[in-house]
Amino acid sequence: MPTGKRIISLLLLCGVLCGCADNRANAETLPAANYVSRTEAVTTTTELFTAVSTEGVEASAQGIETTTAETEAITTTTTATTPETQATTVISQAQSSTRPPLAPSATDNGGAAKEYTNTITLNGPNLVYTGESFNFTYFISHRNAGRASVLWQCRGDSGSIDENGVFTAEKAGTVELYVSDISNGLTDSLLVHVVDSPEDVDFITEVNGIPIANKTYPVPKDYNPGLLSETYDAFLELKLAALNDGVEINFMSGYRSYEEQVEIYKNWNEVYSDGQADRVSSRPGHSEHQLGLAIDVNSIEFSFADTPEGLWLAENCWKYGFIIRYKEGTEEITGYMYEPWHIRYLGKELAKDVHFSGLTLEEYLGIDSWYRIENFVFDEEIE
Ligand code: DAL
Ligand code: ZN
Repeated sequence: MPTGKRIISLLLLCGVLCGCADNRANAETLPAANYVSRTEAVTTTTELFTAVSTEGVEASAQGIETTTAETEAITTTTTATTPETQATTVISQAQSSTRPPLAPSATDNGGAAKEYTNTITLNGPNLVYTGESFNFTYFISHRNAGRASVLWQCRGDSGSIDENGVFTAEKAGTVELYVSDISNGLTDSLLVHVVDSPEDVDFITEVNGIPIANKTYPVPKDYNPGLLSETYDAFLELKLAALNDGVEINFMSGYRSYEEQVEIYKNWNEVYSDGQADRVSSRPGHSEHQLGLAIDVNSIEFSFADTPEGLWLAENCWKYGFIIRYKEGTEEITGYMYEPWHIRYLGKELAKDVHFSGLTLEEYLGIDSWYRIENFVFDEEIE
C-alpha cells in the first residue's frame, strides 16, 4: 500500500479508538522532543501560590484558598515568617483524595475574633523513583502559621528527607513522611512508595490527593475503572450548557483500557517511525484516559481550537470541572503537544483554580512528566 494510503487507513482506525485522525500525521517533520529536566519543570508550591494570587483567584475549598481580603499569604517553605496579623492560607487536598479535604480555615463569627482550623498538610506524590529526589511541601492553616517551626521526618529505610522537605529515594520500599510544626503542635504524614521502575507501580499515584497519569506517573496495566460517573455527569452538564450557548460539544473518546492504548500507540508508531509518537500519544499505562477522568471531544485536529466549539470549550470547561489538559506551548512541561480537544476532569473548585492559574496541571502540582524508560517494549501477550 502506498505510504499515503497506509497513513490514512491507520488514522481512520486510530480515529475510532482515540479520535486520533488529526492533521498531525501530515505535519512536516516534527522537531525533536526536548524535555526539560525535572528540576526545571517543577514549580514549587510557593511559586504556584504567588502565581495564583497575582491572578487574583478567588478562594476555594479544594484548591488554593485565601481566607479574607485583609489577609495575605503565608508561603509554605520552612523559612516562611508572616506576622500573625497577616494571614492564613490553605492549599488543600483535592476532593477525590483518600486524605480528606481541609475545612475552610476561618469562619466569620460576626466581628469577633476569627476561629481558625489549625492544620498542616503535607503535599507531594505518593511515588518517587529510586535515585531521585522530590521536594515535598506543606501548607499551614493557623493564626501563628508565620511562626511555624517545621520538622521533617522519614520513617522507613528506603530514603531520607532533609530539613527542607527534599526526600531522596534510595531503595525500593515504602516510607512514611512526616511534617510537623513543632511550635503549633501540628503534624501530617504521607505514605510514599519508592520504586525502581514504572513497571513496579501497582497503585494510582496521587499528588496532593489528585489522581495523576502522565509520563512520570503510570497507571497499573489492570486498572480498569471505566469512565468515572463524575466525569460523565460533568460532561453532560458541560454539553447541555454548550447547547444553551448554541455550541455542540460531542463525546469522542473517554475511558481507554491499557490494551486499547497499546493499539493506539502502535498505530502512532507506524505513522511516526522516528519515536515522535511519544509527543502525541501516551504509551500504554500512561494515558489519562485509563484513569477514567479524560474525554476527547469533537475533532482531534489542531484547527478545532479556533472553531466556535473549541473556543467555547477553552473558555468554559472549567465551570463544569474540566481543564484543557495539554495546552498550547506546554509540551516541554506536560510531555505532549497541544490537544485542544482533550479535557481532564478535576472537579469544579480545582478546575477553576487551575484554569485561572494559567498553569499546566504539572506546574500547578509541582510535578514533571517524562519517561524513565527510553523505549516502550510491546508486550507479546497483548499483541
Ligand atoms: N493523546 C493523549 C496524550 C493520550 O494518548 O492519552
Ligand atoms: Zn485524549
